[in-house]
Amino acid sequence: MEQDLTTERSGTFSNRPDAGSHSDKKVFVKTYGCQMNVYDSQRMADALAADGYRPTDVIEEADLVLLNTCHIREKAAEKVYSELGRIRVLKDERAKRGRETVIGVAGCVAQAEGREILRRAPVVDLVIGPQTYHRLPSVVTRARSGEKIVETEYAIEDKFEHLPAPARSTVRNRGVTAFLTVQEGCDKFCTFCVVPYTRGAEVSRPVSQVVAEAERLAEAGVREVTLLGQNVNAWHGEGPDGKEWGLGRLLFRLAEIPGLDRLRYTTSHPRDMDDELIAAHRDLRTLMPYLHLPVQAGSDRILKAMNRKHTGADYLRLIERIRAARPDIAMSGDFIVGFPGETDEDFEDTMRIVRDVNYAQAFSFKYSPRPGTPGADMEAQVPDVVKDERLQRLQALLSEQQRAFAQSLVGSDIDLLLEKPGRQAGQLVGRSPWLQPVVVDESAGAIGDIIRVRVTQAGSHSLFCEPVREAGLMEAARGDSV
Ligand code: 5AD
Ligand code: SF4
Repeated sequence: MEQDLTTERSGTFSNRPDAGSHSDKKVFVKTYGCQMNVYDSQRMADALAADGYRPTDVIEEADLVLLNTCHIREKAAEKVYSELGRIRVLKDERAKRGRETVIGVAGCVAQAEGREILRRAPVVDLVIGPQTYHRLPSVVTRARSGEKIVETEYAIEDKFEHLPAPARSTVRNRGVTAFLTVQEGCDKFCTFCVVPYTRGAEVSRPVSQVVAEAERLAEAGVREVTLLGQNVNAWHGEGPDGKEWGLGRLLFRLAEIPGLDRLRYTTSHPRDMDDELIAAHRDLRTLMPYLHLPVQAGSDRILKAMNRKHTGADYLRLIERIRAARPDIAMSGDFIVGFPGETDEDFEDTMRIVRDVNYAQAFSFKYSPRPGTPGADMEAQVPDVVKDERLQRLQALLSEQQRAFAQSLVGSDIDLLLEKPGRQAGQLVGRSPWLQPVVVDESAGAIGDIIRVRVTQAGSHSLFCEPVREAGLMEAARGDSV
């Protein structure tokens, strides 16, 4: 399942127009939820750019407002409706100034609720599900002529073949790291999860499409690509050799692309970690030593009720094999507390598995019954106060592990990809191999450089580092000063 950061982002694509664009139509996209939505928002912006829409970060000046929504937990879905309330005021104000504003809801809430959105929020003009984003420009044109549109059918055509590639300058503006969706949907049907209903059945993009997109990104200066999929390690496709490839083989191929120095992928299911993928972790230095592998719970009884199709022991054995192949790998996970029927003892099993694995990073959530999923109809729903208490204990343990991992790096040298200016003047930020934000002085290098740095301090969310000068250079520097 996709790692969900429950964040909201607006303008995650560049707000700088491509040179040569002469349109004055503007689109504001707000992205909720996971990285797949971030990727989708960019592709929607690309499709609209071809139709003359320039992205903006200022909602008041947008002729088209798109909310790319998340349905994974109730809270995430409700946020959309409160945002639509605010947008209604904005649309009225613009109308008074004679400006038309088209309001669209995309993403998983659109797919799950469809026409219901128009009923609850009449301000909305168009509802479009994730499978039909390539039709967005024509849908927007129809909406502008006053039609209310719900486009949530699964398209027969391949949307990726119809979505335009971003201009080179757009890729460059978006930075030196990029997402690349290789797989969508899920056939696993975990009993708590809406994804199989909102994103549909598992579909993999063909090898040639993925390689071509990765090459285009690298040519435009991207140095790190994160492959995305709700079940990314279930990706499979026919290779140019006529054989069936899995994600491991694909990673070996992508590692050959000049300029792509860092590869990541997320999110994986324990049942799809095959030998070749583990071998990729062993053999590829470009594959970052970080793995997001959700277990969700530690109790076998609960795992069974969740339809996870693995036990706690299976998961621990798997991690042992991965660590044997790549000893410096850092583990990340997702956890749900308070799934129906979870007893204190079951919850202690979750705490135990967390202690056994020792996570560098993790995301944990209170179980949220989602309409239409089997979990929502199960008996023995756990009271909210119990969920709260369990979540607090779990998060305290996970934060302690995360802090200890960061602390263990102090004094060591790591590779850092410089991504963008920091919040404070004079700083640059990037990511460690283990995905931690890293702060260095701007004199350390230029955006896009991968530099060697020494960790001097571990803060609560970031590492602070100083550049390590090569031994030879240090000698020279010392010589100079004498
Ligand atoms: N309630 C709480 N958490 C959920 N997740 C998915 N569905 C639910 C739900 N109904 C969590 C899982 C998943 C992550 C993205 O969100 O841990 O891995
Ligand atoms: Fe992940 Fe399970 Fe949801 Fe599929 S059903 S996306 S495997 S949590």
